[in-house]
Amino acid sequence: MVDSWNPGQYERFKSEREQPFWDLLGMVEPGELRFAADLGCGTGRLTRELHRRVAPKKTLGVDSSASMLVDCRSFEEPGLSFELADIAEFAPADKLDLLFSNAALHWLDDHREVFARIASWLAPGGQLAVQVPANFDHVSHRLAAEVVREEPFAEVVGEWERGVPVLTPEAYASLLFELGFEKQRVQLVVYPHVLNSFEDLIEWQKGTLLTVYRERLGEELYESFLQRFRERLEAELGDARPLFYPFRRILMWASLSL
Ligand SMILES: C[S@@+](CC[C@H](N)C(=O)[O-])C[C@H]1O[C@@H](n2cnc3c(N)ncnc32)[C@H](O)[C@@H]1O
Repeated sequence: MVDSWNPGQYERFKSEREQPFWDLLGMVEPGELRFAADLGCGTGRLTRELHRRVAPKKTLGVDSSASMLVDCRSFEEPGLSFELADIAEFAPADKLDLLFSNAALHWLDDHREVFARIASWLAPGGQLAVQVPANFDHVSHRLAAEVVREEPFAEVVGEWERGVPVLTPEAYASLLFELGFEKQRVQLVVYPHVLNSFEDLIEWQKGTLLTVYRERLGEELYESFLQRFRERLEAELGDARPLFYPFRRILMWASLSL
């Protein structure tokens, strides 16, 4: 599979994207932690913050994109390392005291299965802290899904569509209960982003949502897809300046009993 992640594109909206990371980090309970993993760690910059602030003896950042991890060595420090691996195939060498994942698990299907698997990696007393976007009904997601059904894109992607694996906050709360977590907090938060215009929204989505479209379409067709996406977005949103982009996210924390 083509690696469509681009750290430069992703980090263009660094400050807007960072707040949920800090909010999620704030949900982690301090304590003596031996081993933490950051699933879908991206560039590793924020994994270093996690490692410094939570201070586990060992922290492992895991990401399946070689492009995102390209500079991760520059963030390494004692106890912190990175591994190129797909969460779907990864398993930690030891039981974890903290399983952290910010804005990554929504790239995996079947969250009931994913959460059951990752929860099984936790040691007694282990904590899980996960943030997933929950804005799949936003106009940008809807239009990307519609445009890819138009020709010539539909012929290339066939039956493929970007599914919506993210559950409701209540479903996550029930799932965490079913998986045996003793304590939990699940919150739905709307992050208010003020962008210059719909052009910024396209740049934002090029860094995340549109990566999977690029992977499927290939470079040349992706450019035409972007053009069409842009036309449809402009028709729908007009040229509002600034453009308010409310972004719903689910933040969840849970811990096992000792
Ligand atoms: C939106 S970025 C978030 C990066 C980082 N956690 C942050 O907060 O800035 C999503 C990351 O998840 C990674 N990712 C997506 N699917 C993955 C998978 N199946 N296994 C491992 N990493 C994955 C991507 O490569 C990307 O770096």
